[in-house]
Amino acid sequence: MTSDDTVSISFEINGKDVAIDVEGDTPLLWVIRDEIGLTGTKFGCGIGMCGACTVHVGGRAVRSCVTPVSDVEGASITTIEGLGMEQPHPLQVAWKELQVPQCGYCQSGQIMQAATLLADFPTPSDEDIDRVMAGNLCRCMTYPRIREAIKSASELAKQGGSNG
Ligand code: FES
Ligand code: FES
Repeated sequence: MTSDDTVSISFEINGKDVAIDVEGDTPLLWVIRDEIGLTGTKFGCGIGMCGACTVHVGGRAVRSCVTPVSDVEGASITTIEGLGMEQPHPLQVAWKELQVPQCGYCQSGQIMQAATLLADFPTPSDEDIDRVMAGNLCRCMTYPRIREAIKSASELAKQGGSNG
């Protein structure tokens, strides 16, 4: 089905070029999940309030549920599937070592948000973590392990781990 609002959008996702025809106001989240088939990015609230849908656009964390796909024309997007493609990101190593997830639903968004935190604050304080991670909610209350894993990843990165 096509409509008058259908536009052609091109962008890069996890290093691959994609071009799709879609209504321009379609949330990026639906395009990532339903059109491209990358389901690691989750739908939580749909109104930008939980962080489950966090991806990187141009290296910055954005809420893909409230980002119209027309806004990412020509952009470079990274999802949880594309983080640490060459070698595990220090966050992924730390998350595994510290067994951070409980149900797991919020965790890809948490990791994508934390990746920009570490890019901005390589040695984050508790206050940095609380401030930058405040919009990423976890119903399983894994917050203490998230904080511990972010600090562990910071140390791993300093020891020579990759940040990407
Ligand atoms: S699903 Fe996007 S912020 Fe909740
Ligand atoms: S691990 Fe269950 S919502 Fe965060």
